[in-house]
This record gives sequence, structure tokens and C-alpha cells, in this order.
Amino acid sequence: MNRETDPRSRRKNEHVRHALEQASQTAFSDFDNVHFVHQSIPSVNMEDVDLSTRFGPFALPRPLYINAMTGGSEWTREINGKLAEVAQATGVPMAVGSMHAALKHPELSDSFTIVRTRYPDGIIFANVGADISLDGAKRAVDMLRADALQIHINAPQELIMPEGDRNFKSWRGNIENIVRHVDVPVIIKEVGFGMSRETLQTLKDIGVQYADVSGKGGTNFASIENLRRENKDMAYLSSWGLSTAISLLEAQPFGGDMHILASGGIKTPLDAMKCLALGAKAVGMSRLMLEQVEHHGVEAAIDHVEQFHHQMRKISILIDAKDIEEITSRPLVLSPEVISWQRQRALD
Ligand code: FNR
Repeated sequence: MNRETDPRSRRKNEHVRHALEQASQTAFSDFDNVHFVHQSIPSVNMEDVDLSTRFGPFALPRPLYINAMTGGSEWTREINGKLAEVAQATGVPMAVGSMHAALKHPELSDSFTIVRTRYPDGIIFANVGADISLDGAKRAVDMLRADALQIHINAPQELIMPEGDRNFKSWRGNIENIVRHVDVPVIIKEVGFGMSRETLQTLKDIGVQYADVSGKGGTNFASIENLRRENKDMAYLSSWGLSTAISLLEAQPFGGDMHILASGGIKTPLDAMKCLALGAKAVGMSRLMLEQVEHHGVEAAIDHVEQFHHQMRKISILIDAKDIEEITSRPLVLSPEVISWQRQRALD
């Protein structure tokens, strides 16, 4: 099948186009409702600050990763190639977008495998949906020689899409089966709607050890799916979901048993630092990286990642913390709206 006439390829291009358009809009950010407490006499120097992190088998010098976006068309092959060059230069892990199209149409697989070609020794996450078969999940991992498998859970997006999935009961059992039988870490991730305590409890119960809460505040798939069609009958769901900050509060009780990762609306190094302070082991960025490679190019994107990490280290000094362990123990002050959520959900 010609890649650009395949509906899945077309959908991938539309997602990228709308995500880039969304980037110019001012999005709500709950990170502004979480405040660090400034310390005027730091006891650390810049050279003392080390934000390296560990989760499962992964030891990362920088607590950052390029999160799942794309693949499955000519344009998205190019984007994946550029993102992989950024990952190669900066050493951050990189996830590809949903690989279902390539599993069904092998001629689309090079739009994903280009990532392994350009990032030969790097940490790469494969990506599939929660309805994937065990065989499909294994093939996705093999296709990229992936170091981990992301399974995205995206019920609002499916329900808004007229052609989307309507069967969800099998997700739980399916995820459990894949986690048991795939021999790389399996990261269950949202796609920008956030995760509740109940969701995380379910994941924990079925043996999931890695969760990316991917909350509201950045790329908004409720809006994107509405933009993609004439009939915008579910446009009112555009503010559905839990913000990344709230999701990380919901995830607090699970930090001891699970590796919690954060993404969704990370725009500044300060947002990323707040994620670490709220218990995330690493912080993922999708749209920011897409904007960088598409609007500014690979060199600028590499510089952006380096500066981003450098500025995180500077902020660490302002809260008098030299590493992630200290960052998590520093005080945070929450705005009334967040406190109210915390109280009503009995999270405090
Ligand atoms: C995504 N995202 C995504 N996630 C996933 O697990 N599989 C996928 O195929 C895609 N596709 C996709 C396409 C595009 C263009 C974007 C921008 C995003 C969701 C992504 O991984 C992340 O969860 C959200 O985008 C929130 O993060 P940002 O964009 O606010 O940093």
C-alpha cells in the first residue's frame, strides 16, 4: 500500500500537523500551582549538581527522554530520523509512536527502524496500544531491538474517534499477559490525560512496574481528534483528564513499588524539576521535541536538550539540592486548587 494513502499514515501526519498547531496556543499548566521554596544561601556549587537517574535497568546521565510520537508515513519517518539524531547526540532515551501500522504493513517499518539505525546503541522504547496481541508486542520489540516496550492507554482518544476502539474490557488482561511474557521492561503510558490512583492500583495489581502518567497540560488528543473532523460533537471534552502535577500526586503512594515517569505539558526546565520533586524518575517530552526538530532543526534541538538539562541543574541550586534524592525531599507549596484536589482525594 502507498504509505500516504493508507488511512493510518494519513492519521499519523494529521496528528503531527495538529500537535504543531496546538503548540502555539497557551495551554493551561498545573505546574504553576506547584511552588518550590527559594533558598538564598545554597550549599552546593554548579559542579556538585548531578541529576543522573536510575529506574529498572536504565541508568541515565540526564533525567530526560523523548516521548512517543510517530512513524508510519514518509514525513514521520523523517521526523523519527531527526529525533533519533537528537537522542544520539544527547544520550537520552527515545520512544517511537504506535507501531501497529508497521506490524500490519511491513513496508512502513522503516519509518520506525530508522530510529535504531541512527541511534544504534541508544535506549529505545517500542510503542503499541493496549489491544495488541502478545505476538504483536514481541514483534514490535524485535523490530527495533527495543530496550523497553511502551503500551499506550488512550480511552478518551479512542472514544472521540468515530473509527476508534469501543472495547476496553480486554485491556487489563492483555496488559497483564504482555508484562508477564515480554522480556523487556513494559511501561504503561497515558497520552496526555493523566493517571489516577485507581488506574495505578490496577496497574500495580497486574504486575506493572513502570508507569508514565502523561498528564493534561500539553498535547491534547481530545482537541486534536475533534480538529481532525467536521463533526466536533465531543469538543467539550477538551479539558478532560488529570494534569501531570495532579497525576504525580495521585502516584505518590506507588513510588516505592513502581517506577513513576512523568510527561505531558513539560515546557520548561522548571516544569521538569517539579516533576522530579513530585517523585518522577525521569521526564518525557513529545511536543517540545517535535517543535524543536520541525521548526528549528536537529542542531538547535540538540542544543535545546543540553540547555534544558543545564538549566535544571541551575534550578537545583536554587532549592539547595545536589541530586534527585535531595530534590524529592525539598518542600513544595501547593496552590489552593491542588490542595483541594489532594484533600478530597485523601492524598495528603
Ligand atoms: C503523541 N503521543 C503518543 N503516545 C503514544 O504512546 N503513542 C503514540 O503513537 C503517540 N502519538 C503522538 C503523536 C504526536 C504528534 C504527539 C505530539 C504525541 C502522546 C505523547 O507520547 C505524550 O503522552 C503526550 O503528547 C503528552 O506529552 P507532551 O506532548 O505534552 O510533551
